This record gives sequence, structure tokens and C-alpha cells, in this order.
Amino acid sequence: MTDHEGADARFEKWDPGVARYLAASMADMAGPCLPILHALQARFGYIHREAIPIVADVLNLSRAEVVGIVSFYHDFRDTPPGDHVLRLCRAESCQAMGAEALVAELTDRLGAAPGSTASDGSVTIDSVYCLGNCALSPAAMLDGRLLGRVTPERVMALLEGVGA
Ligand code: FES
Repeated sequence: MTDHEGADARFEKWDPGVARYLAASMADMAGPCLPILHALQARFGYIHREAIPIVADVLNLSRAEVVGIVSFYHDFRDTPPGDHVLRLCRAESCQAMGAEALVAELTDRLGAAPGSTASDGSVTIDSVYCLGNCALSPAAMLDGRLLGRVTPERVMALLEGVGA
């Protein structure tokens, strides 16, 4: 457990009982695993390692199957996010408009690559594959706010604006 874990007002502190209740309440849905994992991440900020056996047990899956799903989808994280979450689109349209150069520049400036959090915990960078904002590529999302025609300077200014 890190100092950051459970200290984030955006998310609830990890609670295996709540996680099991949540998973069980959604178990009868069609294709329940992904919605359950999304619900757990929305509630706790990430997929806690103890969530794996809970979801496996509730859905009668193996732990390996659940781990495989969590690691396959870029949306899921297995550690608590930083204070702010920056999602950078790396799909085709954004790539054509310089997304990879943007990713490289921001990785350099923030000291964190996609899939990781800056050492001061201020920002987590994630890759995402199409935000539905292709007309304004390259696109990004900062704390749920959709951004278009993104430049490193604009992202840095926005992060400064939110105190990151
Ligand atoms: S490809 Fe980036 S928003 Fe669609």
C-alpha cells in the first residue's frame, strides 16, 4: 500500500466487501466482467490486486482469465492514479496529426510515460485509442475534459492551471 492509496477524495478507499457486493450485483448482466471491472475502477480509482480473486469467484472464472482481461484493456490500471489523469489519444487520426511526437514531448516534460504516474504523484498519463474527437486531432482528455488540437504547451498550461 502506498501513501497515496485511499487518500484520494475522488475515489473510495479499497474495501473488499464493497467490491464483492458490487461485483455480485452485476453478475447477472450479459458479459459482466468488463462492466464490473469498470465499476470497480470508477469506485476505487484502480483495480486493486484483491479485486482479481473476488471477480473470478463471483463470475466463476479463473484468476488468470480476470488478470488477462485487466491487462489486455488499456483502460484498467492496477495502481492508484495520480492527482490528475491525462489520456493521450494514439489512434490513427491522432497519429497522423503528430500524436506520437506529442506523447514523446509530454513524457519528457512530465517525467512519466503512458501507463505511469509522475514521481510526485501529480499526474498519470494513459494511452487511449480514439476519444471520438478525430476532427480535432491530436486529442487528449484531462480529468474527463476533452481537448482537441493539443500541443505540449497547452497541456502544460492546463496542468499548471489545475495545480499539477
Ligand atoms: S483517433 Fe484520436 S480522437 Fe479519434
